[in-house]
Amino acid sequence: MKKKIYIAGCGGMLGEAFYTQFKDEYEIKCTDKDVNVDWLSFLDFRDFEAYKKEVLEFQPDYLFHLGAYTDLEWCEQNADETYLTNTLCVENAVYIANELDIPLLYISTAGIFDGQKELYDDWDTPNPLGVYARSKYMGERFVVENAKRYLVCRAGWMMGSGPSKDKKFIQKIMKQLRDGKKELFIVNDKDGTPTYTQDFAKTVKELIQHEYWGLYNCVCGGQTGRLEVAQDLIKVLGKENEIKITPVDSGYFKDIYFAERPASERLLTRKLNIRGVNQMKDWRVALKEYIENYYQGYLN
Ligand SMILES: NC(=O)c1ccc[n+]([C@@H]2O[C@H](COP(=O)([O-])OP(=O)(O)OC[C@H]3O[C@@H](n4cnc5c(N)ncnc54)[C@H](OP(=O)(O)O)[C@@H]3O)[C@@H](O)[C@H]2O)c1
Repeated sequence: MKKKIYIAGCGGMLGEAFYTQFKDEYEIKCTDKDVNVDWLSFLDFRDFEAYKKEVLEFQPDYLFHLGAYTDLEWCEQNADETYLTNTLCVENAVYIANELDIPLLYISTAGIFDGQKELYDDWDTPNPLGVYARSKYMGERFVVENAKRYLVCRAGWMMGSGPSKDKKFIQKIMKQLRDGKKELFIVNDKDGTPTYTQDFAKTVKELIQHEYWGLYNCVCGGQTGRLEVAQDLIKVLGKENEIKITPVDSGYFKDIYFAERPASERLLTRKLNIRGVNQMKDWRVALKEYIENYYQGYLN
């Protein structure tokens, strides 16, 4: 008998990887408020009664709560909506998982740190700067303090799911290239660690199978910054001679990206490494794999 997983908020970048990695070995039910593919069904998890009813009826062995508002600028301008979705709904997920006596997975972010340090391990103390980061950190704390059994996995700069769902850095650059841009303006004052969604989902699977509950930094190997990621992407695409990258500081984008971001949100996967369950490849290897697997023909 396959074990069962209820996955809430599974319609986004990360959800696509969880569907791919878990669908064969587990019986999964994937829901979202945006039903954008045929393996999803509708659930708006802000409706606590509906969320509880759905999960109790499915009787899963695990509850994965993936969904959140992830646009930092939108969150900054819609604080109450953000705390409702990203924090209070996570509290509800804890109550549901505890009632069923099953483990809960919650996804946190590297963005909960303030960037005063260059590198953060699993035991460093967060100090979120903006609404999105604070909403995610408050969700994280509630899970850690109240869930009977849990995994809190912190992701960095997510890359995954390709043009249809990727809303982040890689897709933003790919879109500019497809639109014919020959010069890219990239910030040179933001450091972090990419997270390939497929490897992230594989790592979660390892943690579950070993029952290694707890809180984990879960990012690609290696440390980098926005500028270096962009340069490497252009190299992977073989477009070094066609595309000019102009480094700028984040002030250049202050009107578009006005939410405060830490100067460094680099994570170290110390706990995954010690446990021997780290499935996260080096970010350069993962970036190449991502582009090869998801962007064939996109720029033609
Ligand atoms: N993307 C990153 O770089 C990053 C980094 C670190 C951590 N994370 C965390 O990783 C998790 C997954 O993020 P992602 O990148 O996959 O984001 P995403 O692509 O925006 O996907 C999130 C999904 O959750 C859905 N959702 C939001 N509110 C919901 C609700 N009330 N009920 C049901 N579904 C709801 C969204 O639907 P709508 O599109 O309709 O809102 C969307 O389909 C989130 O918890 C996020 O905070 C992301």
